[in-house]
Amino acid sequence: MSNGRERFATKLGFILAAVGSAVGLGNVWRFSYVAGENGGAAFLLVYLLCIFLIGLPVLLAEFSIGRRGQQDVVGSFNTIAPQKPWAIGGILGVASAFIILSFYGVIAGWVVYFLYSYVTGAAAGVETGEYADFFGAFIGGAAGPVFWQVLFMALTIAIVFFGVKKGIELSNKIFMPLLAVILLFLAGYALTLDGAAEGLAFLFRPEFSAFGNPGIYAAAIGQAFFTLSLGMGAMITYASYLPKETKLPSAAGTVVTLDTLFAIVVGIMIFPAVFTFAQFDVGDAGPGLVFITLPEVFNQMGAMGTMFGILFFFLVAVAALSSAISLLEVSVAYAMRKFNWTRRFAAIAVGTVVTLFGVPSALSQGGPLSDFTVAGLPFLDLMDTITDNYFLPLGGFVIALFVGWGWNKVDALKETGLTDTTVGTVWIWFLRIVAPIGILGILLLNIFG
Ligand code: PHE
Ligand code: NA
Repeated sequence: MSNGRERFATKLGFILAAVGSAVGLGNVWRFSYVAGENGGAAFLLVYLLCIFLIGLPVLLAEFSIGRRGQQDVVGSFNTIAPQKPWAIGGILGVASAFIILSFYGVIAGWVVYFLYSYVTGAAAGVETGEYADFFGAFIGGAAGPVFWQVLFMALTIAIVFFGVKKGIELSNKIFMPLLAVILLFLAGYALTLDGAAEGLAFLFRPEFSAFGNPGIYAAAIGQAFFTLSLGMGAMITYASYLPKETKLPSAAGTVVTLDTLFAIVVGIMIFPAVFTFAQFDVGDAGPGLVFITLPEVFNQMGAMGTMFGILFFFLVAVAALSSAISLLEVSVAYAMRKFNWTRRFAAIAVGTVVTLFGVPSALSQGGPLSDFTVAGLPFLDLMDTITDNYFLPLGGFVIALFVGWGWNKVDALKETGLTDTTVGTVWIWFLRIVAPIGILGILLLNIFG
């Protein structure tokens, strides 16, 4: 145990870090617009199935790989199964983490810009119905989006540089519950809006024709992996800092439950607002959805709106920070072992390259690079789709097969503390059959459907 690696001091510290990784822009920004784009309730149903049938077992698999391997994502595969090709899944994971962080920093930059705009009052003086223009004017620029992206990334790099996990644990302990309270309040407020009934119907009453659209399955599984930080080794890396005693199944259950509750509350908050204020069709809003819709809500609240704007964007920025840290940690832990770099050098080197790679994404949403598209997708949307709808499920596929078939079943069960239990048997069979077939089926449907 004393191999010189850093450690979480307590089980709570680990759970806070894992929940901090999971809860982030995925629950607020990405869940809203992807659910909006994919028919709302039909998407939600498939998403929940993906979370519980595939996400939960894969999350537990990542926890056990990391704690057993005691290394970064690639190293952990190699330690458990030396000289085997499984580590390819780890390489794919490092690549995914790198690409995801590149655009994650961009969206987080938008959040910080909105926080700043509420603090200065600039966002409060906007007329009803004008927030689409306010947002468009910001992301249509070049210096603005890049400046806020770089600022956010600098903060992320600084925290990974100093390795101040303590500060993050503490801030998650205070700010995450506060975010939950604010979201619940805003969801309650949204239910009083004119479009509440329509919004709730959109989120909870499926149109059966929507299930015929093959795209929603890929969107749902991609969102499930993204929101749980799965398929790329963030949870493997965090679990590698764990002492042996921690109970992994309950930690996995906590992460999944909290992350899912956050997403659903956000849905109850956002869709009534969309159907009250939107000047766009809910399916066409794209990545700007929450940035256009929520300010309209705050605007309705009068003087209180500024306070809510500040609180909301501050707390979402903190949630994004703890997720970004876990993304950077994947590549940093890998580089530290692989190239024998110090934590500090790795944080700066990897962080800088990721930030540079994010610049085209920052310029792609109405800015100078918006006309550069591949398959109709601007750069940010392209990076998002490739990683979330393909790389992450593929990474999860490898992880499920590895624990289900590659790793000795007895050892895998022992690592999770599920030896001779029904839950353990069910878990192994989900990893052997349900998750791989589900993932493969959805990937194939997406490619050929
Ligand atoms: N789960 C995070 C979110 O929902 C994003 C993330 C993805 C973090 C992958 C780490 C790894 O915002
Ligand atoms: Na999430």
